[in-house]
Amino acid sequence: MSAHPDAGRRRTTIHDLAALRARGERFVMLTAYDANAAGILDELDVPVLLVGDSLGMVALGHPTTLLVTLDDMIHHASAVMRARPHALVVVDLPFGSYQQGPEQALASAVRVIKESGADAVKIEGGARVVPTVRTLVAAGIPVMGHLGLTPQSVGQLGGFRVQGRDEAAAATIVEDAVALAEAGVFATVLECIPASLAPRVTAASPAPTIGIGAGGDVDGQVLVWHDLLGLGSGHRPRFVRAYADLRGAIRGAVDAFRDDVRSGAFPSEAESYGD
Ligand code: KIV
Repeated sequence: MSAHPDAGRRRTTIHDLAALRARGERFVMLTAYDANAAGILDELDVPVLLVGDSLGMVALGHPTTLLVTLDDMIHHASAVMRARPHALVVVDLPFGSYQQGPEQALASAVRVIKESGADAVKIEGGARVVPTVRTLVAAGIPVMGHLGLTPQSVGQLGGFRVQGRDEAAAATIVEDAVALAEAGVFATVLECIPASLAPRVTAASPAPTIGIGAGGDVDGQVLVWHDLLGLGSGHRPRFVRAYADLRGAIRGAVDAFRDDVRSGAFPSEAESYGD
């Protein structure tokens, strides 16, 4: 009897990420919003899945992440968890579900964990969310931080722009990363910061860093599923490398199907049931 494909596999934990960092092994995180994607990523041993609130922009048709609700996040995180992935599954707390402070954040995070079965939550912000991180960690909930371009603050930042370009802003990001790690985050996403700043943050941060638009000197890299696969349309940020053109492939497939239906080439006899 051959071994079960899952034999020897166990769920990734936050400690595994620390161990990868200690060994100098870079790791991957990818976003996932449904069971199908989570299943594929699981087959490929991707260690961390992020149910990101980018969901709002790539799947729900919103212009920003601000309209995403806690119910949206739990709905999609539950779908990801139904694939029973071995990855560590991290879920974004969306805008409005933690900004009131630690008590609101705890209630939101408990809902995410209990209702979806996911492992951890991610929140955006630096020093101002430190009391919230402490409260969640004290309750036993693993927390990922997010610094640099924090899309839930897009209005205040004046758009989706690179952060930390001047020395004062760069120093604040370094200090925030240290403060978050001291408060207990197990990793911090660095989004859209200069490639020269990322190693400073990574060297100062006791927790692993995961970059998106932060250059190569970080512990891990994250991309959005739709960006990686070339599923998006419109502006493609500089930091995105599309490893496939699925939008083109889908268009080709749908075109071919439509032509075959129109010409009568679909379905064939082999694709039809006999008497
Ligand atoms: O929501 C998201 O997908 C994210 C990643 C871009 C890090 O926060």
